[in-house]
Amino acid sequence: MSTVAPRLQSRGVASSPVLLALLLVIFVAGTVYVFVARLYPAPPPISHDAVLVDRQYNLTLYVTGAAFVLAQLGLAYAILRFRDRGQKAHFLEGNVALEVLWTSVTLLAFLGLGILGRNAWAGVRFTLAAAGAIQIEATTTQFVYTFRYPGPDGKFGRIDPSLVSAPAGNPLGIDPSDPAGRDDIVVSELTVPVNRPIELLLRSQDVVHNFFVRELRLQQDAVPGMLIPVHFTADRVGTYEIVCTQLCGLGHNKMHAHLNVVSQLDYDAFLKREAIVQ
Ligand code: CUA
Repeated sequence: MSTVAPRLQSRGVASSPVLLALLLVIFVAGTVYVFVARLYPAPPPISHDAVLVDRQYNLTLYVTGAAFVLAQLGLAYAILRFRDRGQKAHFLEGNVALEVLWTSVTLLAFLGLGILGRNAWAGVRFTLAAAGAIQIEATTTQFVYTFRYPGPDGKFGRIDPSLVSAPAGNPLGIDPSDPAGRDDIVVSELTVPVNRPIELLLRSQDVVHNFFVRELRLQQDAVPGMLIPVHFTADRVGTYEIVCTQLCGLGHNKMHAHLNVVSQLDYDAFLKREAIVQ
């Protein structure tokens, strides 16, 4: 205690740690407010898989949100509690038990959330589409989506890249010598019947693009040289935007299309109408 007096002369100013702690509390409160007040809400989900994704997202948000708030408030507390009052600083060599504890907790949280999240993510990718799913091909190219339905025969016609010519009315390069391709329906919007499983076969003709529908919580890259299947069942009639989320060139920001979820009757009418146009 006898040494307190001279040390007091070198004690730090209280205003900077108080300000820093206050700033931290304001940042934390502001961040929490953005999420709690739902300032940027996602549009309502339109499939069961989308509900699962939302559940997983919320769980991850709660766990990481709690960790974030505790860590930042703990930091603010430490800044105040251990600020320079002219006292002698103590050095801690570390605590193996504590290190092991918080490393394991972090590892468990990350791995646990990762494994849980994988289920929601892999459900639409690594499981087969339901039997009787409607197959529709989605082809991306700078900067448009082209959708192909197999037509009444239920078979997609053969594709030959050397025949690709949008000006000639054959943007997908369907081989005219293949009878399976003659009734194929090629359109620029994706129309699907409500409550029916859809298997989308994603292709790209040039660079990596993406198929993203917010309401389906479904986002998948389309990669040249690969046929990537994803499946979904939309349970709400409506029109939703399909956007490309891969920076694919100068027209990337304009690359979008629409997903029309319609009744079975309207879907049948759509197929009939497009078949006549062909
Ligand atoms: Cu295609 Cu961005």
